[in-house]
Amino acid sequence: MRRVLIASLLLTACGNDVVPTGDDASTPTTEPVFYGQVQRIFNDNCVSCHSEDPDRLAPFALVKYEDAVAAATDFPMAYDVMNRVMPPFYADQNGDCGSFRDAHWMTDDELDTLLAWINGGKLEGNPADTVAPPPPPGGLAQVDHTVDTNTSFTISTDQPDTFACFVVDSIGADKFVVGAHVKPGNLTVAHHVILFTLDQAAEDDAVAKQAAAGGSSYRCDGGPTQAGEAKFLVGWVPGNQATVFPPSTGIRVDGARKMVVQMHYNSAHSDGRTDRTTIDLDLADSVQVPAQMARISGNVNLPPQQIDATSTGTVTIPNALPSARIWGSGVHMHQRGTAAKLTVASDNDRCLMDLVNWSFHWQHFYWFEEPVALDGGDTIKLTCHYDTTGDTQNIGFCETTDCEMCIQYAYVTQ
Ligand code: HEC
Repeated sequence: MRRVLIASLLLTACGNDVVPTGDDASTPTTEPVFYGQVQRIFNDNCVSCHSEDPDRLAPFALVKYEDAVAAATDFPMAYDVMNRVMPPFYADQNGDCGSFRDAHWMTDDELDTLLAWINGGKLEGNPADTVAPPPPPGGLAQVDHTVDTNTSFTISTDQPDTFACFVVDSIGADKFVVGAHVKPGNLTVAHHVILFTLDQAAEDDAVAKQAAAGGSSYRCDGGPTQAGEAKFLVGWVPGNQATVFPPSTGIRVDGARKMVVQMHYNSAHSDGRTDRTTIDLDLADSVQVPAQMARISGNVNLPPQQIDATSTGTVTIPNALPSARIWGSGVHMHQRGTAAKLTVASDNDRCLMDLVNWSFHWQHFYWFEEPVALDGGDTIKLTCHYDTTGDTQNIGFCETTDCEMCIQYAYVTQ
């Protein structure tokens, strides 16, 4: 609401009029212009996905002035940015709670500028002030193993979203994963990719499910398995390049266990081609500081008909550990999720990560700029928020999308 007000005040104040700022009446207006100004905001927050690459999931490019004007005219861009639907980066960066690597978070000033441009004259400015979009970050320094879904998967266009799981071969020997580069085979449909490690029970379940489904993949809308434990190892969403784990750290992978690649496909911009996704892994025999993907799972028992039902879960760092560091965190809920927060309950609920929005379609893993240092005995709390107004019965915990989860994965070292 505040933003609508600011945007409309700006418009009333300036309209599309040229406001002379000096002797020369043709000098720039106070209304924002594309070149050098709004373009910078698009470059920093949008073009990693809204690129000029025709193989992209995002519906349009935000690189050229004409394309940006068309998109701001044809799509509900003001609504999406105001409500922080776009960019799909939900970890609040206002300074009160966490600071994240490669953040696509617009400051209030940037938001106001962008809204004034969208709702105003969408002025061009001077093409000489153009700023090039940043080059995408590089890949992995070294590739030791490639995880291969080994299937040409045909994406159904009967429904918008398909969740498919692929059991992949074990890596053969116990190793530490120190970096991963997810390479979707068809970027026009790949919406997210998650590589899960499995314990024996989860492997048995996944293998059985795949065999029952015909042998090369199986449907997995809620999660890869309903037995044992499947652990998030690395994730990808559009715009992501390689993930390099923090220096000297890595996650140990059992060389004998198969893994599962979960693909979320969205067919809205499908070019009709099949997909075969691979994941390059940079492996090490040992690392100085072994890491774990630690999991918090909330107790889910949500009353129906609530705009804001909540679930919480906690984990206490064992007293035996002198310290622990959290390097990054990702949350998992299903379709009813609206927001989530990670705090240190034992320290006045000190805020570590505040997801102000949630979309099942955007399960981003957020890496802290600096690891969060904790002591043995500290309790971390995850609070998940849901909208259950569409439900008539209590919603419990389960892996399918009929019910809900409240999970947090954190990359943790001592
Ligand atoms: C991480 C990738 C990513 C980033 C960053 C991103 N977008 Fe998007 N955007 C998408 C995808 C993919 C879609 C298609 C809808 C979907 O899958 O959510 C989309 C859709 C949209 C839509 C259309 C929504 C509709 O209702 O049809 C708008 C408007 C939009 N983006 C604007 C922006 C703006 C403005 C920015 C930057 C301030 C931005 N996006 C940043 C990936 C991204």
